[in-house]
Amino acid sequence: MFVDRLVCSRCGAVYQYSDSPLMCRRNDFGRLDIIYDYDAARESFSRQAVSRRVWGGVWRYWELLPVEGKYAASLMEGGTPLLKTNRLGEHLGFKSFFVKDETRNPTASFKDRAMAVGAAKAVETGRRDVVIASSGNAASSLAAYSASLGLRCHAFVPEDVSTGKASQLLLYGAKVFRVKQTVEGRDPTVDLMVQTVSSWGWYPCPSFGPFNPYQVEGPKTIVYEVLEQLGWSVPDALLIPTGSGCLAAGIWKGLRDLMQLGLIDSYPSIVPVQPAGNQPLASAIKQGKAFSDIQPEKNPRSIASGLLDPYPWDGDAVIEGVKATHGCAETVEEDEIRESVRLLARMEGVFAEPSGAVGVLAAKKLLEAGWLDKSDTVVVLATGSGLKEPEKVVSGEKIPLTMPDLESLLRFL
Ligand SMILES: Cc1ncc(COP(=O)(O)O)c(C=O)c1O
Ligand SMILES: [Zn+2]
Repeated sequence: MFVDRLVCSRCGAVYQYSDSPLMCRRNDFGRLDIIYDYDAARESFSRQAVSRRVWGGVWRYWELLPVEGKYAASLMEGGTPLLKTNRLGEHLGFKSFFVKDETRNPTASFKDRAMAVGAAKAVETGRRDVVIASSGNAASSLAAYSASLGLRCHAFVPEDVSTGKASQLLLYGAKVFRVKQTVEGRDPTVDLMVQTVSSWGWYPCPSFGPFNPYQVEGPKTIVYEVLEQLGWSVPDALLIPTGSGCLAAGIWKGLRDLMQLGLIDSYPSIVPVQPAGNQPLASAIKQGKAFSDIQPEKNPRSIASGLLDPYPWDGDAVIEGVKATHGCAETVEEDEIRESVRLLARMEGVFAEPSGAVGVLAAKKLLEAGWLDKSDTVVVLATGSGLKEPEKVVSGEKIPLTMPDLESLLRFL
């Protein structure tokens, strides 16, 4: 662990790592970006050294994670396969189309990488009560890590949270509150979380950088793994399902880490993907707007429940990453999201939830628009499991009911 300092992304204020700051004292909703001592990290973090390490969850990359070794708790998150698709790539028109299958994490979404770090930091700083605002995945992940570490987890989720995600939360032992949407453009789960932090001193661990800079560092390990899995050859584009932007911001951070360490010498293009029904960040990128001009989406609507954050808290870093890597943003309509889920499942055997699948049709659209080329190496992140909310894409009644005899079965066939 080689952290040098933290710097507020809004006002530039510098913080000591030993003070374990969470939010900028100026309350400007800047993210306290963690700056590492890359000279020190380079001593042990090399391609060869990393490849020889046994799996230890995200802590395989301990040099560039902001937690002391003895607190590095893990449910063996990460280490997910990078699947070289054959049927899906060919169907879409690509020669080299990969899916990073994050559905295989301990609680079945990529958020485990973030929460492994966020929860470990809570223990390191002596906290007992952790609180989160989330559409469900980050909350169930924090609940699982809290269970294994003996933390008390309080979760604020939207009132229409899926049964799958709510069941995970309840069974991991979190105190769960469904929160009613009352004001357009505001996320009431975030408002409540902020109030519990300021009133009762709970440790905020949402997957939004401005409230907790440590958890941002977890998801960047996705890109360390992708590069290692591709034999350190840099792909052309990374398609990233995006809500608050924390994941895409983490990917950008991970790429910069690898560049600083001298492990890559170019960047893949970063492509955040949002649903058409909630695209504050994607529209801003398409229109070349500054982060400060982004207004929260008044009425976010999509079956991609994990991508419904009205405000992209980490959008500043995503815009920077898209510009620096010559990326772009893409949006997908509801029928395209359903088609993405179907294609991943039917052609590759990967069952993703709607939020986790959006990269598939986004890639197809970018190929048709000529932004991607069929010879490009494309990596799509499949970020969460379809078992979390299967009701979004299939209804039980669609499964044929037949009598237990061959004759009536034949009628269906
Ligand atoms: C499955 C899934 N994919 C992607 C995201 C988007 O991540 P972020 O909010 O960091 O942009 C989420 C967030 O909840 C999610 O649950
Ligand atoms: Zn600040």
